[in-house]
Amino acid sequence: MIAIVARSENGVIGLDGGLPWRCKGDLQFFKRTTMDRKIVVGRTTFEGLPPLKGREIFVLTRNPNARFEGAVAISDSADVPADAIICGGASVYDLMIPRCDQLLLTTIKKEVEGDTFFNPRWLDGFELEEVIEETEDYSIVSYRRSV
Ligand SMILES: NC(=O)c1ccc[n+]([C@@H]2O[C@H](COP(=O)([O-])OP(=O)(O)OC[C@H]3O[C@@H](n4cnc5c(N)ncnc54)[C@H](OP(=O)(O)O)[C@@H]3O)[C@@H](O)[C@H]2O)c1
Repeated sequence: MIAIVARSENGVIGLDGGLPWRCKGDLQFFKRTTMDRKIVVGRTTFEGLPPLKGREIFVLTRNPNARFEGAVAISDSADVPADAIICGGASVYDLMIPRCDQLLLTTIKKEVEGDTFFNPRWLDGFELEEVIEETEDYSIVSYRRSV
């Protein structure tokens, strides 16, 4: 299982249910990585997303009556498909990253205000595999589980 995360230099991953930056290069990376794949998001993240074409979306919620347009609701993390890409937010990363063997991490090279943060413990057990992209504004690296 793969997780894909973007953070700012000061560890922000979200603000008011969305992303507090615009980064075209990262959006393109997210799109090409997730296209034609299954993705998993928490209910809060799903509500802040624009429609994502070409991806099969699974939304984690504890509400057994929840229904989402264009997505499948799941209440049990055991129902997350093994070939899915974990796309956040923080509570879903907490839950699912320990089961992932690869973590794709974008760092947006600026400090921003936020209310949701990258937890350094998400990298526990991972080691740097490769730098995928490095620009003046952002970097994208792959971590692989080592233990
Ligand atoms: N920078 C990035 O890479 C990135 C990626 C994704 C999201 N984000 C940002 O992260 C923020 C949202 O993160 P968040 O942690 O507040 O919310 P979240 O993880 O997106 O969603 C939280 C919701 O997921 C459901 N959930 C969580 N754990 C569950 C479990 N064990 N079983 C079943 N359902 C579960 C619950 O839904 P119910 O309340 O319906 O029960 C919970 O309220 C937003 O700002 C978003 O933009 C950033």
